[in-house]
Amino acid sequence: YRSPKVTVVGAGNVGGMLAQRIAKQNLADVVLYDIVQGKPQGIALDLLQAHTISDLDRQIIGTNDYSDTKDSDIIVVTAGLPRKDGMSRNDLLRINASIVKDVVQSTISLSPNAILLIVTNPLDVMTYLAWQVSGLPPQRVIGMAGVLDAARFQTFIAMELKISSADIYTTVLGGHGDLMLPLPRLSTVNGVPITELLSQEAITRLVERTRNGGAEIVQLLQNGSAYFAPSAAVNVMVESIISDRHRVLPAAAYLTGEYGLRDIFMGVPVQLGRQGAEKIVELKLLDEELAALHASAASIQANINLL
Ligand code: APR
Repeated sequence: YRSPKVTVVGAGNVGGMLAQRIAKQNLADVVLYDIVQGKPQGIALDLLQAHTISDLDRQIIGTNDYSDTKDSDIIVVTAGLPRKDGMSRNDLLRINASIVKDVVQSTISLSPNAILLIVTNPLDVMTYLAWQVSGLPPQRVIGMAGVLDAARFQTFIAMELKISSADIYTTVLGGHGDLMLPLPRLSTVNGVPITELLSQEAITRLVERTRNGGAEIVQLLQNGSAYFAPSAAVNVMVESIISDRHRVLPAAAYLTGEYGLRDIFMGVPVQLGRQGAEKIVELKLLDEELAALHASAASIQANINLL
């Protein structure tokens, strides 16, 4: 038996927190890679010592040497610049594209059987790029955003209704940007659509806040972007893949005609297991919902074309 191995590229806020979550849940050994000398080694030592206190003993290695990532089961890419106040995710396009390209080329040759999980923004475009550079079958390349966006919507509904978030289920489709599509009609409290529980005004407000969920935090922090929830979202995806749970989670997956879209990565409900994106779930959408989804896809496509 060989322990599962997850490489996290980028030992920044999201990467460090993700390494902690994976090891804490005993999911896999973790290799934390960063381009900055000493940073991943320092974080790995700090994490190991924290886990010693908590009686955990998963391997966590920090490195600046890609050869340590060999034979990973999953490679998570968080390397790149995060947003600053006033920046959109698209402002990161060029600089993060060159980073993601370099990271994918350097890792995938050493771990040809790995599944790539992309976190770097602008998410949907970076996931497409990673797929192209990797040469992997599209099922083995997945982008994290939907779990986070759905959780944000869920949190805001819980705050508004003053109930536990545990009883709320939300659906968010589309790109991880201003045109993402939180779907109130398919978001429920124990099966009851929120359209029956909240006023139209409240729903519009919560949808808007969800779309701006990342920017709201960037603005509050002034110097940094969200990482507790993003790392929790990646961790849930890692768990479904490593443990072959076949959970249906919203994530950026490769579309081949689903929702009338093809040759694009975008947020849809997708079944995640050892094979990667095993199956895309096609929800029945109303005409205006489908039109909004296509508008989101068009904006992703425009950025892919820019690259
Ligand atoms: N190779 C490896 N690591 C790199 C490279 C590279 N070419 N370029 C940058 N990095 C590392 C940085 O040294 C840093 O440690 O990526 C890390 C990014 O960490 P943070 O700046 O803390 O950013 P974080 O908040 O973790 O966000 C990472 O996720 O949500 C997205 O928009 C966000 O694209 C950003 C990414």
